[in-house]
Amino acid sequence: MKQFISVDDVQSIHSLVTQALAYKANPLKDAGLGNGKKIGLLFLNPSLRTRVSTQVAAKNLGLETIVFNIDKEGWVLEFEEGAVMNGSTVEHIKDAAPALGSYFDILCLRSFPSLQSKEDDYAETIIQQFIKYAGVPVVSLESATLHPLQSLTDIVTISEVLKSSQTNATKKPKVVLTWAPHIKALPQCVANSFAEWMNAWGEAEFVITHPEGYELDEKFSKGATILHQQSEALKDADFIYVKNWSAYNDYGSMPAVNGDWMLTNERLQQTNNAKVMHCLPVRRNVELSDDILDGENSIVTQQAGNRVWAAQAVIATILNSNS
Ligand code: CP
Repeated sequence: MKQFISVDDVQSIHSLVTQALAYKANPLKDAGLGNGKKIGLLFLNPSLRTRVSTQVAAKNLGLETIVFNIDKEGWVLEFEEGAVMNGSTVEHIKDAAPALGSYFDILCLRSFPSLQSKEDDYAETIIQQFIKYAGVPVVSLESATLHPLQSLTDIVTISEVLKSSQTNATKKPKVVLTWAPHIKALPQCVANSFAEWMNAWGEAEFVITHPEGYELDEKFSKGATILHQQSEALKDADFIYVKNWSAYNDYGSMPAVNGDWMLTNERLQQTNNAKVMHCLPVRRNVELSDDILDGENSIVTQQAGNRVWAAQAVIATILNSNS
């Protein structure tokens, strides 16, 4: 694996999931793999889980990690080709990325979308320029449109729950991605990515439910059953993934919504005692109710914990393919 930007970079989801769960069982089994190597975690936006879990994963593999909050501690970067830099930007990506690439064996980057320009965001301008100029493998820590480390974790978590339960193995689990309310416009990354990975995985009956106006880019959602009635979608669900996103078509807007989309324990009654997932951070009693998050159906902490093993599997795969 030369980079980890989307599911398209992955040869076998099944192998990565198996590897992640093997690391969970024995975190230090490849403790020497990264000896003498360095990984850079570059942040243009905030993070709790991604930042810390990737550091723990790298440590388990023997890598040295340097974290750099470029947005706060670095020069303001320019990404436009041919720019006359007589304004606020101080350093061009063409100069910064090769320098960073010379310090590290793997570069990881978090870079959220602007939600202003669909064209720029969906071209993945920032991470693509890091890939172009860094000269070392690049791992997405969430980019403008996708969050692949989260999606791998999500499939690891679903697989782990299925393995530990006594479900009928002949029937695919029903996994529902449901839109949830929020107070501000959020990126489509987690939803896009989850849809992309679920469709590629193919081991579940996959349903997306959202209010009208919140359609995702078909490039990612195609293959899923899409319903506008949450109650219809939740029927007999085994897993419910709760996430807010802003509109893709009327880009970055928050179209008015009819009805209440926040998941409650009452709504779980129509499911197959579904496990509830969320990538976190979550706004309690806006996106998801306390009764769900503090109840026995929530697997959000297990899911967040699994971020380590997913990151470890990805970093190890990159080290093994580029040694
Ligand atoms: N889920 C996730 O990416 O969390 P952070 O934004 O805290 O890293």
